[in-house]
Amino acid sequence: MKRAIRSLTLAGLMAGSLLGSAFAADTKIGFVVKQPEEPWFQDEWKFADQAGKEKGFTVVKIGAEDGEKALAAIDNLGAQGAQGFIICTPDVNLGPALAAKAQANKLKMMTVDDRLVDGAGKPLEAVPHMGISASKIGELVGQTIAEQTKARGWDLKDLGVIRVSYDQLPTAKDRVDGATAMLLKAGLPQANIFNAPQDKTDTEAALNAATTVINAHPDVKHWAAIGLNDEAVLGAVRATESVGIKPADVIGVGIGGADSAINEFKKSQPTGFVATVIISPKRHGYETATDMFDWITKDQMPPTLTQTAGQLATRDDYAKVRQGLGIQ
Ligand code: GLA
Repeated sequence: MKRAIRSLTLAGLMAGSLLGSAFAADTKIGFVVKQPEEPWFQDEWKFADQAGKEKGFTVVKIGAEDGEKALAAIDNLGAQGAQGFIICTPDVNLGPALAAKAQANKLKMMTVDDRLVDGAGKPLEAVPHMGISASKIGELVGQTIAEQTKARGWDLKDLGVIRVSYDQLPTAKDRVDGATAMLLKAGLPQANIFNAPQDKTDTEAALNAATTVINAHPDVKHWAAIGLNDEAVLGAVRATESVGIKPADVIGVGIGGADSAINEFKKSQPTGFVATVIISPKRHGYETATDMFDWITKDQMPPTLTQTAGQLATRDDYAKVRQGLGIQ
């Protein structure tokens, strides 16, 4: 009798664990990003995949460069039997449309990087979000440029700041506003900030926007560049190079720290791209995917808002900083 009970219990346990692992293996999580070619998003995917391998769920990676593709991606995930998805949307104004699509497909939705807004421009609080602490990170960029200016013995009056901007995206605006606030606080005249709106968030669009600014101000002695990410700042740095401004006269400080920045730091000769604030694709990829998995399997909803930090790095110490963040 005792033996019978024991084997029954064993059978029960085995069935339970089989059920458990079958459930985990059946969990499918979408990871939709607006710019699949950008190293930052490739890193997010890499770390989401790592979480999937460790915890036993499948990550379906989809690039959605515009609203139509984003909506189609959600239908596609629904048809594939996914239970939820994480998205960095190509347009934050798609908020209500994406939420409705997710609901129609019975998918849980979480956003990463770019937070959705409603018709009045207010964040969609009902959708859990992980983004960077944009203003603080921007302030670090501004502070770094102010310190570099001082270290080079320049006067802030002689510094022109190219503000590569994409103001329709709140996180982008917060980042550059944080940077300019610190520069103004350090004594930079407001008139020395030149807006360079980019029509897309990539290097080429930033290069075009910055070139217009530089050509309009041939009298500026030294240049600095700020923007929402490394690509924006790299575009501005490339623009200075294309008109023959020496790298020693340029202070570009980016945000990101993925391959776009690292490839620049690996060049044998330093360029005007002097530093970046490294943010964590591991947190944004691994942690969001894990949060979604826990939401699906344990009915544990992720926090409404998580804001991740950044750490400054230069060509001299970026490897160490990345290692410290566990993103080597
Ligand atoms: C935005 C930018 C990306 C990256 C992320 C980080 O989506 O477009 O380049 O900086 O934010 O959250």
